[in-house]
Amino acid sequence: MSDVAPSQPLRIDPESKGDNMPASELNSNKGLSKKKLNSAPLRIVDTSVMSVNGLFKSYGKGAVQVPVLKGVDLEIEEGGFTAIIGQSGSGKSTLLHLLGTLDAPDSGEIYFRDQRIDNLAPRQQEYLRNREFGLIFQFYHLLPELTTLENVLIPRMVQDGFFRYLKNKRSYRKRAIELLEMVGLSHRLTHKPSQLSGGEMQRTAIARSLISDPSILLADEPTGNLDSENGAEVMETLTALRKHENLTVVMVTHDDQLASQADRVIHLVNGVVAS
Ligand SMILES: Nc1ncnc2c1ncn2[C@@H]1O[C@H](COP(=O)(O)OP(=O)(O)O)[C@@H](O)[C@H]1O
Ligand SMILES: [Mg+2]
Repeated sequence: MSDVAPSQPLRIDPESKGDNMPASELNSNKGLSKKKLNSAPLRIVDTSVMSVNGLFKSYGKGAVQVPVLKGVDLEIEEGGFTAIIGQSGSGKSTLLHLLGTLDAPDSGEIYFRDQRIDNLAPRQQEYLRNREFGLIFQFYHLLPELTTLENVLIPRMVQDGFFRYLKNKRSYRKRAIELLEMVGLSHRLTHKPSQLSGGEMQRTAIARSLISDPSILLADEPTGNLDSENGAEVMETLTALRKHENLTVVMVTHDDQLASQADRVIHLVNGVVAS
């Protein structure tokens, strides 16, 4: 997978700085920024937060391999709202999963703040997913027995473990309530998912994706399961949060209307970015 080995020690290191790092520093992105990899070709423009070079991904084995991504190059602008649009089956989810280190490319490179991330060790990728990337999917994946507020707190419970979570619980709860207010759900804190509409469930999932103060939100057809009214509310929520929380948003969709609400639209056609 990796033909360009990082020549610098990797700095995304949960052992050395992760859990003990003050939230203010974690969120400032200082720890992951600036230092460049000597051996990697730098094609990164100043404002780009993610950069993808020559990404290939196929599914299947041997003779029945189906190529999905066939050399994708793209840059994601810091603080922008980028939509990646393509037909169903064009590889949008595949691409988003690769950006979020949920899967590995066959070849090519993905950089986050000048740091190559597609070939990091699993623990370092997990750290990135926990601290830098917020992920939203078409389906909300809420736990049915927990309240809205508890669902939003889940990532913190998982990351911290029992004792640290107890210690930090007050501040996490405060932040979770603040996020639920921002997504318009302050009156639904103690509701269970079964008592929420689809739009409310997705807005809960959005609040959950932000509880660890990520810098990038990766959204896979976030309105794909919603009617137009709820879909519009979710889009408004994403747009407002991006500004308020100073986020970079990357959304994949097959819907021209939705994509047109982004600052920038990238078209995925036949496994490459159409120019
Ligand atoms: N885990 C997988 N195993 C085999 N084929 C897959 C897998 N995931 C996706 N595919 C195939 O890859 C293609 C692109 O899928 P996907 O990225 O989900 O497209 P999109 O999100 O644009 O609809 C489709 O033909 C799909 O069937
Ligand atoms: Mg998809």
